[in-house]
Amino acid sequence: MSASWIRWPWPEQLLEGRPPLAYGGDYNPEQWPREVWAQDAALMQEAGVNLVTLGVFSWARLQPAPDAWDFAWLDEVMDLMAASRIAVDLATATASPPPWLTSAHPEVLPVDRSGHVLHQGARQAYAPSSPLFRELALELVERMAQRYGGHEALALWHVSNEMGCHNAPDYSEAAEIAFRRWLAERYGDVEALNTAWGTDFWSQRYGSFEQVQPPRLAPTFPNPTQVLDFARFTSWQLQDQLRAEAAVLRRVAPDVPVTTNFMVMGHTQHLDYTAWAADVDLVANDHYVMAADPDGQHELAFSADHTRGLAGGRPWVLMESSTSAVNWQPVNPPKAPGQLRRNSLVQVARGADAVCFFQWRASRAGAEKYHSGLVPHAGADSRLFRDAVALGADLAALREVVGSTITNDVALVFDYEAWWVLDQPAHPSAQLHYREVAEAWHRSLWESRVGVDVVGPDADLSGYRVVLVPLLHLVREETAARIASAAEAGASVVVTYFSGVVDEHDHVRLGGHPGAFRDLLGVRVEELGPLLPGTTVHVHGPSVGTATAGTWVEPVDVVDPGATEVVARYLDGPHAGGPAITRARRGSGWAWYVSTELQDAGRRRLVGRVLADAGVAPAVAASEGVEVSVRRRGEAQWVFAVNHGQHAGEVGGGGLDLLTGTEHAGPVPVPAGGVVVLRRPA
Ligand code: GAL
Repeated sequence: MSASWIRWPWPEQLLEGRPPLAYGGDYNPEQWPREVWAQDAALMQEAGVNLVTLGVFSWARLQPAPDAWDFAWLDEVMDLMAASRIAVDLATATASPPPWLTSAHPEVLPVDRSGHVLHQGARQAYAPSSPLFRELALELVERMAQRYGGHEALALWHVSNEMGCHNAPDYSEAAEIAFRRWLAERYGDVEALNTAWGTDFWSQRYGSFEQVQPPRLAPTFPNPTQVLDFARFTSWQLQDQLRAEAAVLRRVAPDVPVTTNFMVMGHTQHLDYTAWAADVDLVANDHYVMAADPDGQHELAFSADHTRGLAGGRPWVLMESSTSAVNWQPVNPPKAPGQLRRNSLVQVARGADAVCFFQWRASRAGAEKYHSGLVPHAGADSRLFRDAVALGADLAALREVVGSTITNDVALVFDYEAWWVLDQPAHPSAQLHYREVAEAWHRSLWESRVGVDVVGPDADLSGYRVVLVPLLHLVREETAARIASAAEAGASVVVTYFSGVVDEHDHVRLGGHPGAFRDLLGVRVEELGPLLPGTTVHVHGPSVGTATAGTWVEPVDVVDPGATEVVARYLDGPHAGGPAITRARRGSGWAWYVSTELQDAGRRRLVGRVLADAGVAPAVAASEGVEVSVRRRGEAQWVFAVNHGQHAGEVGGGGLDLLTGTEHAGPVPVPAGGVVVLRRPA
C-alpha cells in the first residue's frame, strides 16, 4: 500500500497490517439538527461506514460574515466522527462562496460565453481566475488546515469539490486578464501567438496581447486554436487553484494526503485530468450512471478503466456515486434491485479501493432533495438502508483486495486535447463524438472480457501487446513516436480514421492524412470522407467477414504494398473496391489502419482478430451477460464476475467466493443480477 493512500487514523483499522476498503460518502450535518448527528454516527457504524467527506458546502456556516468565523459545530462533528472511529475526508470548503462574498463583490462571479453573469443562488458561483476569490479561499483553507490538520479523525484532504463542474469555462474579465498572462508566458511575444493561431486567416492578427480575448460568442466560427488554447487555459486555471489549496494543506499538515474529486464520466471534458493527476496524492473520481443510457453499465466500466489509467494503475477512490436515483437527469428512476451492489463492485473490480456516495442522508430541502442517499427520506427502516448495510458487509469481506493492482495487455489512448479539438465546429462532420468512439472500441474488448487500461497520450506504452488509438485527431509528434515505437517493439497498434491529422496548434499536417501516422501505417489519404447521416457502407475481408460501417469512409492508398496488407476492402459506397482496413508489419509488431467507423459486430470481429494475432485471450470464460474482471492481483488473484442479465450464468474455474465464503471447485454459478468475487492463486 502506497504511503499516499488514505491515512487511516486508528491502529485497529489496520487489521493484519491491511487497511479496509473505504466506505461512506458526503456527510452534510449542517443540514440537520444536532440530535440527528448522534443517530447518524450510530447508523454509519451499523452500515460499516468508515469514511465521510465533511465540509464540502460549509463555507457560509464556517465564515458567516467577512470577519466572523464559526468552527464550533465542525469541531463537534469531527470529534463525533473520531469517537465513532469514522475517518474524515475533510473538504477545504471552498467549493461554493457564501452570499456575503458574491453580493459585496459581484466581480468574482463567473460569466458565460454570451457575457451573461452566472449569479449567486446555486453553487460554484465564482470565476476561477478571480484574485479576490483566490485570496479569500486560501484564507479559509489556511484556517481549515491549522484547525484540523492534526485532528485525530482526519484521513484525507478534499480540495474544493468537482472543480469546474459549473464554472468552467469562464469568460469573465478576470479570466480575460489571466488568459492574456497565460498566453504571454506560453508564447513570449504576440507574433508567436499569431503564427500558432493562424491569425492571417479572417484578418485576426493581434498587435499585442492586450487585444486578445477569450473566445466569446462571435458572429461565426471562432478561431480554433484560440478555442483550444482557451480550453487549455481553463483546465490550467482550475488546476492552479488545486495546486494553491494543496500547497497550503501540505505546508501545514504534510502527512495528510490530498485529493480532489475528478469527474471522469459521460461527457465531462473541461479538465485535462491526465495533467491534474500529478497534483493529487491519490486519484478520486465521481461517477453517476445515466439512467436512460442502454450502455450505462459499459460506460461505468470505461470510466473506471480511465480513472485507473489516471491513477497510473494504482488503487483509487470512488468518491461519489448514487445509491439509487439522482435528481439531475431528465427522468430519475431509482436503481433496480441489486444495481447498487453491482455498480459498486464493478468499480472495485476495476481498481477502486473506496466506494463512497453522494450523500449520507438524503436532504429535505434544496435542489437535491430528490437525490438518493444511504439513508433515504423513509429512514433507516428501508430497502435502501438495508442495501447500504449489506454493501458495507460485502466491502468488509473484500478487504484482502486492498492495495492490489491491475495490469492489462491492452491500452486505449485517450487524450483530452484531442477531444477539445474534435468537438469544435467547422469540421468535415459534426457526427464524430470522441468519447463515444473511444467507448465503442473499449466496449468490443469489454464484450470479449479482455481488460483495457485507458491511458493518456504521455503514458508508457511499452509492455502492452495491443494499443488502440481511436480518433486521435490532434496528436503531438512525441505521442505519435511513442505509438510507433510500441509497434516496433511488438505491439499491435490500431489507429482509426481522422487520427494524426493536426498538430498541437490544430494545424493540418501537409502531404496527406493521417499525417503523423502516415509512415507508421504505410497509407496515404488525400481526401477526408464524412458520410451523410443514415448512410452506411459495407466492408469485406477474409478475417473480418462482411461488416457494416458508417459516419466516415476514406480513399486509402497503400504506400508500400510490400509491407502493408489490405485486410478488408469497401464493397460499396464512394470508395468501393478500395482498401478499408490495412495492416503493416513494423518491427515485431503490427500497425493497423481502420479508415471507417465499423458498427459493433464488425468492430468486435476485428478486435477479435487483432487480439488473436497479438496472443491476447480472455483469462476466464463466462456466460453471456456476465462481466468478468480478472486482473486484480496481489498475493492472490481476484476474479470479479458480475451478472447484469436476467438469467443465471456462470464463470469458469473455481475459487473461494469471498462474498459467501463458499469454496467452488468447478465453474461457479453467478445468479441473475448477482456478483461473485473469487480468490485464486496469483
Ligand atoms: C456531484 C456533486 C455533489 C452532488 C452530486 C449529485 O456533481 O459533487 O455535490 O451534487 O453530484 O449527483
